[in-house]
Amino acid sequence: MLASGTGTILGAILDAGLAVGVVILDRPCPAAELAGAAGVATEVVERESYGAEFDRVAYTHRVVEALKRHQIDVIAMAGFGTVLAPPIFDVYAGRILNTHPALLPAFKGWHAVRDAIELGVKVTGTTVHIATEEVDAGPILAQEPVRVEPGDTEESLHERIKVVERRLYPETIRLFMRQIRGGGTA
Ligand code: GRF
Repeated sequence: MLASGTGTILGAILDAGLAVGVVILDRPCPAAELAGAAGVATEVVERESYGAEFDRVAYTHRVVEALKRHQIDVIAMAGFGTVLAPPIFDVYAGRILNTHPALLPAFKGWHAVRDAIELGVKVTGTTVHIATEEVDAGPILAQEPVRVEPGDTEESLHERIKVVERRLYPETIRLFMRQIRGGGTA
């Protein structure tokens, strides 16, 4: 798992009993404590800068090295705050999953929930997809809608979306793992 934030999606994956080999974080964050408390190996591959001088390729190589050290074969991103560079796709193409808080291809990017509210859509949702070099653009594995209610804030809407993500993402990861291990369509 790659995470950066509060880690509630990570928590749902651990609660679902999926075998997590390592949790990689790009900064100290609550997700680290959560993984530690669950007894899962964690590594903070700390991002050294957020400015224009940030060496994304070198950083990505550090993440790949950490994943290899833990013999990881499938990656699930859950709110990881750093866009990774092509070297990760050289090693893990087709085996990196992501959950996004909108119905892709609508509202790509980091502010998907805020953008949905600002545009005034009545329905948004969540998407589980395979991550590719182009951000939020890879093949879609699962989607579910979530209604936008009158008076919703970014926080209230995001929390209702995350309720769905906490169910849909573990289910989809489980199915994906079965499929790549040759278990058919379950
Ligand atoms: C989720 O909404 C995920 O789709 C997005 O970041 C959020 C992570 O939530 N990319 P949490 O930190 O696991 O609570």
